[in-house]
Amino acid sequence: MSRNYQIAPSILSADFARLGDEVRAVIAAGADLIHFDVMDNHYVPNLTIGPMVCSAIKPHVGTTPIDVHLMVKPVDAIIPEFAKAGANIISFHPEASEHIDRTIALIRDCGCRPGLVFNPATPLSHLDYTLDKLDLVLLMSVNPGFGGQKFIDGVLPKVAEVRRRIDASGKSILLEVDGGIKADNIAKVAAAGADTFVAGSAIYGANDYAAAIRNMRSALTSHVSA
Ligand code: DX5
Ligand code: ZN
Repeated sequence: MSRNYQIAPSILSADFARLGDEVRAVIAAGADLIHFDVMDNHYVPNLTIGPMVCSAIKPHVGTTPIDVHLMVKPVDAIIPEFAKAGANIISFHPEASEHIDRTIALIRDCGCRPGLVFNPATPLSHLDYTLDKLDLVLLMSVNPGFGGQKFIDGVLPKVAEVRRRIDASGKSILLEVDGGIKADNIAKVAAAGADTFVAGSAIYGANDYAAAIRNMRSALTSHVSA
């Protein structure tokens, strides 16, 4: 099935000493979104970047949306800070919020598009009363915390289940998958129903970012024509 596929390079694998240039480079190479991984050394065992870095890259992104993935607990206090810093999409993990519905509303009230993120072992029951309020569902295909991990195939039936739920809702909700995505496995993730693909090491680890993104798009095209 043909969808509007989007590639979201994760700057987690970029050279942080040259972050503005690295953001510009993936946009020039064809990125549709800039995926921004926020880790707090508490919800996940790693520590990365916050709203000040989001503000710093904002002048470099042009019209490309910043897709902020919060791996932070508690999560609510940081949301208005990211909205002020120029985030467009903000997603969070249900385990990191005491009041999921309130957190979704907070993201919307701040003028951003809300997303809910599911770890490989997190059940989809959190979508039962939230899906119609979301603009994005993000399924983790690794356990969050680090780039460069191996894609967990067991997430594929979960992608298909979320695709069924989104289609049944009749709403236009992005279905994003994050972790271990490369040109050689992106087609099966698309076949399961995803439309938005995060890739960190597969893009920033390549010598030629444009070639890396092109290879992903051509794998998606061959999936569609298969
Ligand atoms: C993992 C992050 C991912 C990560 C993906 O916790 O949420 O966005 O950067 O990196 P790769 O594509 O290298 O698995
Ligand atoms: Zn991420």
